[in-house]
Amino acid sequence: MEATPADNNTGQVHRPRRLRRTGALRRMVQETVLTAADLIYPLFVMEGEGQQEAIPSMPNCFRYSLDLLLEEAKAVWELGIGAIALFPLIPHHQKDNAGTESYNPDGLIPRAVRALKQALPELLVITDVALDPYSSEGHDGIVQNGQILNDETVAVLAKQALVQAEAGADFVAPSDMMDGRVREIRKALDAEGWINVGILAYSAKYASAYYGPFRDALDSAPKFGDKKTYQMDAANAREALKEVELDIKEGADIVMVKPALAYLDVICRIKQHTNLPVAAYNVSGEYAMVKAAAQQGWIDEKAVMLETLTSMKRAGADLILTYFAKDAALALRTEKGKA
Ligand code: PBG
Repeated sequence: MEATPADNNTGQVHRPRRLRRTGALRRMVQETVLTAADLIYPLFVMEGEGQQEAIPSMPNCFRYSLDLLLEEAKAVWELGIGAIALFPLIPHHQKDNAGTESYNPDGLIPRAVRALKQALPELLVITDVALDPYSSEGHDGIVQNGQILNDETVAVLAKQALVQAEAGADFVAPSDMMDGRVREIRKALDAEGWINVGILAYSAKYASAYYGPFRDALDSAPKFGDKKTYQMDAANAREALKEVELDIKEGADIVMVKPALAYLDVICRIKQHTNLPVAAYNVSGEYAMVKAAAQQGWIDEKAVMLETLTSMKRAGADLILTYFAKDAALALRTEKGKA
């Protein structure tokens, strides 16, 4: 390396740019490394055979019938992604206020889990515990006189989690935000001997407008009102710590923050607060924003995707649920050596 005479003797001791000079050097001092193993791919499943339906507000995401779901899961596993999270599209005639279909042992989700664990035993399967895909009201709990009942809902959630565990789920993931549900789910699982089925708790789940495209995907938008009496207020961060503390006491194995991008400070604070793994959900609206701007040619999709996911990991997320999982795993393969 040649000296640069003009820069000599300026009295400048610290030159952070020294560590940014070449790709190898930048990789060597990189603080955060995103890998495919950090990612969880959410997948939508529906009844039928040989069917794959596009979701207009989520380009390149589909609802899959069971047979095609298996093919998709295989592709995901081969990309080095270790886990998927399942969400069902339930036909209207199977929905009711009590979400009865949610604990049908032969329902769509238990059948999907059994088929997945048989075809790909090592792929981790995470099932969502909540009533909204099964609710005629589009709410995460049982509705009475316009109110969402807490304890009655928790009893149904425990049954739902048990059916999922019996089908072979590795983790159950309560996303409903009812009080006390982690404890009741843990109790129900343990009572039946499912001591190794984990709980990934949506601990700090905000009442967010970023869920719009997901509700399109599952046709699960609330039929009245909003979810603000159970999901959290976007203005609150200390309350997220309270929710996390409760879920840990009740038996959560992993705690999650959702959405991710507008809540990086919450991820960071929770990470400092607990030694449990922290997950972040890069939700449907965050995905849709990037896709839409990229389709206009306004941003570089791959670069923005990797920068965004890296920011979540840097903030403290050990795991990231993201509709970009496949794209990111592919990009990370080809990006190697290009820091
Ligand atoms: C509901 C649930 C939602 C999401 C995951 N589980 C939506 C909601 O709370 O209304 C949203 C995920 C996303 O937007 O990607 N239990």
